Amino acid sequence: MWRACKPLYSGHKNPAKTGNNDTCRPRVAGYLPRRCNRQGCDGMDGSFMGEHSFSPDAENARALRDALGRFATGVTVVTTQSDQGPLGITANSFASLSLDPALVLWAPGKFSRRFEAFTAAEHFAIHVLGAEQMDLARHFARDGLDFDLPNITKGVGDTPLLAGCLARFECRRHALYPGGDHAIVVGEVLRVSTNEGAGLSFFAGSYGAIATD
Ligand SMILES: Cc1cc2nc3c(=O)[nH]c(=O)nc-3n(C[C@H](O)[C@H](O)[C@H](O)COP(=O)(O)O)c2cc1C
Repeated sequence: MWRACKPLYSGHKNPAKTGNNDTCRPRVAGYLPRRCNRQGCDGMDGSFMGEHSFSPDAENARALRDALGRFATGVTVVTTQSDQGPLGITANSFASLSLDPALVLWAPGKFSRRFEAFTAAEHFAIHVLGAEQMDLARHFARDGLDFDLPNITKGVGDTPLLAGCLARFECRRHALYPGGDHAIVVGEVLRVSTNEGAGLSFFAGSYGAIATD
């Protein structure tokens, strides 16, 4: 039996969503679910209009990455003072968490050689990059120790600070949580700086710009 479910475009056969084992029917006039023929699609639901559905496993890690990459983000550079000196990393896992108290978070990956230093850091700064700072994003994705850059200053806890970013949050580590192959670092914001300008975005593996108007 067909049964309408939320959200509108869902075509999932998911007892958790429908409350029984019926296949959900998209509530969009004219659309009937069609099975997905793509390789790797588990065919468990009524995927339609070229939709590709799968349960994440080792075989489809690439497809999972691609799906996650469809969430557009801004781009940040996180910096800290490490045993080896100033350290930076490009990160798009940044999120605001709480206004009162002022908390933000980001997620260093265990795959990174910089993981230990960033999870151990007592202080760090998160720099929200502007549209003109794609080179800086590429720079700190490649190399965390190269601070041969103009206008580097020092902030709370000797943290290296980059100039000309849209926003900068100087933080003290508030909490550290496990997050699968990442850790979740929550920072208490001690100081904030802002500049005007368009933002640097990251979507489907490519950089772009987000203007205010
Ligand atoms: C747009 C973008 C976002 C990234 N976001 C994160 C992130 O949130 N967390 C993380 O650990 N690495 C992230 N990375 C990867 C790191 O910047 C860096 O490339 C990686 O740590 C390289 O590994 P290494 O530290 O061993 O050299 C991102 C890279 C790019 C280009």
